[in-house]
Amino acid sequence: MPERLTINGDTFEPFITEDEIRTRIQSLAGRINTDYKGKTPIFIGVLNGSFIFLADLIREITVDCEMDFFKLSSYGDAKISSGQVKLLKNLNCEVEGRDILVVEDIVDSGLSIAFIKNIIEKENPKSLKFVSLLLKKGVPKLDFPIDYVGFEIPPDFVIGYGLDYAQKVRNLKSIYRLAPQGTTHTA
Ligand code: IMP
Ligand code: MG
Repeated sequence: MPERLTINGDTFEPFITEDEIRTRIQSLAGRINTDYKGKTPIFIGVLNGSFIFLADLIREITVDCEMDFFKLSSYGDAKISSGQVKLLKNLNCEVEGRDILVVEDIVDSGLSIAFIKNIIEKENPKSLKFVSLLLKKGVPKLDFPIDYVGFEIPPDFVIGYGLDYAQKVRNLKSIYRLAPQGTTHTA
């Protein structure tokens, strides 16, 4: 893994390695496999950010399962959320009476996941739980829990492993965070 990356003039430092992500996903999947034994949950990924996490998570799932996607937009090209969530693609599956697991890359303000919860609950699922690879500590103003959390992180801007900066760098294999100002240098 390279030491640091400079993107659009901002410097990012290594934060969570491929190995750490893989190990944590195996442990989350283990819990989900136990909790959903004998059930056929639908994993609902939130595009674009969650596609890599969902792809890795679902390959550790041993119970019968289905999947579908929402597509939301809230960030535009900035590092700070616009505070407005737009639904760009709705589900194609039947949610009523099903066990639903929503899969997010990161919960930041909590706005997106609350928006999704609201949509899904109207369709009367049998159960509804939330998985997020990352949860920004102290930031989410949520009145419900994220049931399966990969890593609780400080409220820094992070990239890689599905997470973008102005739509780029989703293809990085590990997660980087914005380096504190004053420590910038090019790698
Ligand atoms: P929220 O609605 O503020 O919780 O954020 C929702 C979405 O914004 C996440 O699903 C991500 O796609 C994106 N996001 C939040 N924080 C970051 C970040 O640090 N880096 C890149 N994308 C982020
Ligand atoms: Mg997302």
